[in-house]
Amino acid sequence: MPDFDAYFDEHRQQFQNDLCQLLQIPSISADSSHRADVQRAGKWMADHFRAIGLETELIETDGNPIVFAQSPPVEGAPTVLVYGHYDVQPPDPLEEWISPPFEPTERDGNLYARGATDDKGQMLTHVKSAQAWMETEGRLPVQLKFLIEGEEEVGSESLYQYLDGKYDENVLEKIACDIVVISDTSQFGPGQPAITYGLRGIAYFELRLTGPKQDLHSGSFGGAVTNPANAITSMLAALVDENGRVQIPKFYDDVTPLSDHERAQFANLTFDERAFIEQIGVDALTGERGYTTLERRWARPTFDINGIWGGYQGEGAKTVLPARASAKFSFRLVPQQDPEKIAQSLHEMLQANCPPGIKLKLLTEHGAPGVVVPLDSPYVTAAAAAIERGFGRSPVFIREGGSIPVVTTFSEKLEVDTLLLGWGLDDDNTHSPNEKLCLADYHRGMKASAHLWHTLSKVNPQENE
Ligand code: BES
Ligand code: MN
Ligand code: MN
Repeated sequence: MPDFDAYFDEHRQQFQNDLCQLLQIPSISADSSHRADVQRAGKWMADHFRAIGLETELIETDGNPIVFAQSPPVEGAPTVLVYGHYDVQPPDPLEEWISPPFEPTERDGNLYARGATDDKGQMLTHVKSAQAWMETEGRLPVQLKFLIEGEEEVGSESLYQYLDGKYDENVLEKIACDIVVISDTSQFGPGQPAITYGLRGIAYFELRLTGPKQDLHSGSFGGAVTNPANAITSMLAALVDENGRVQIPKFYDDVTPLSDHERAQFANLTFDERAFIEQIGVDALTGERGYTTLERRWARPTFDINGIWGGYQGEGAKTVLPARASAKFSFRLVPQQDPEKIAQSLHEMLQANCPPGIKLKLLTEHGAPGVVVPLDSPYVTAAAAAIERGFGRSPVFIREGGSIPVVTTFSEKLEVDTLLLGWGLDDDNTHSPNEKLCLADYHRGMKASAHLWHTLSKVNPQENE
């Protein structure tokens, strides 16, 4: 095997510059005014794959382009599908950024930019490791297939249509593989890499309440007319009790409980709760009674309001009884909970709790079940060895609280498992101002990835069917 350490050390600055180029493109999928930028980022990816020497396709969709690239098949070695996303979250609130979100800036060994860790930087480590193999060996030791999409942050609609055959009827043959690799998660802590074996699912909603036909004087009408803003606060408050238990009927029926074994493993990880509290700037942590912080974040369902509005929000006081109030809120789900069943019982509960004088509309944004992937596979062993080579330390096995819905889709449609190899950190400020990626982790991630193609090439795909 070539000396990848030397190769990546030599190309350190060049590969950082390449990442900066991609980070300069504001590919914000939620914002239609950035459509051209999103297209540009898709094209940048395709050009990049072609330059490395991979067979590349830029698939136009009704939404944002999907990029597919592949290296030639390798007899007797597994085929690996790398999934990632080139779209990013909106950068707001802009005034809280120390350097502008789309002008990547290096400070204290970190690269600051929207998308640095989620997911441009992490995803690019695998592209760069493919480049390393191509430039040093002229080939890859496994067949690599890249599937990079531009709508992950808004629900991946076009990707699902693509996987359903809308743009290519042979799509499932095209992306057929033995194992999926995704780097869009985190390490357990600085210097402690991890393999993530579980992710939470999600059920996301918007609730719209309407009361009187227009805003009213709160003195003349207050007390006699139901206030939609009052109503939405009590309806939402009823969804969770003071012990952090969601109150929707049947909500916990399908929850896979944490085993004693798994709880012991979580407890074995040295989690610094003080540092965690300081990092997020609160004075205490709360959550479902009877569970530790890691259990609450990784393996228990939750309810969170993501946004709530209605009534007067301008300067000074305005005595008004608003005609409308709305909220966006979501539940994080754990394995075996069904987002559709939850949507149904939520709807029934909200309707039952809706006071007279109010009309309600419940919109379902997106839903995905939680996942746990098996650890007893030679692919996991191969990944652990590669991570140890790249990071100088063997990984711990963790679950995480975020969601990557397509993991379930891959397991259903392709019948393959996913390796979640996260190079990020919990304090990378994903979806927040001042998102960053530790440059040493970018570098280590590329090395680990280059070794991964080697260690995976030794796994016999036939033995794992
Ligand atoms: N990279 C994240 C997923 C993630 C976050 C995994 C934290 C592990 C820890 C991904 O880009 C993301 O933000 N996913 C959304 C999913 C949603 C849009 C369906 C999420 O988790 O909110
Ligand atoms: Mn992501
Ligand atoms: Mn994200």
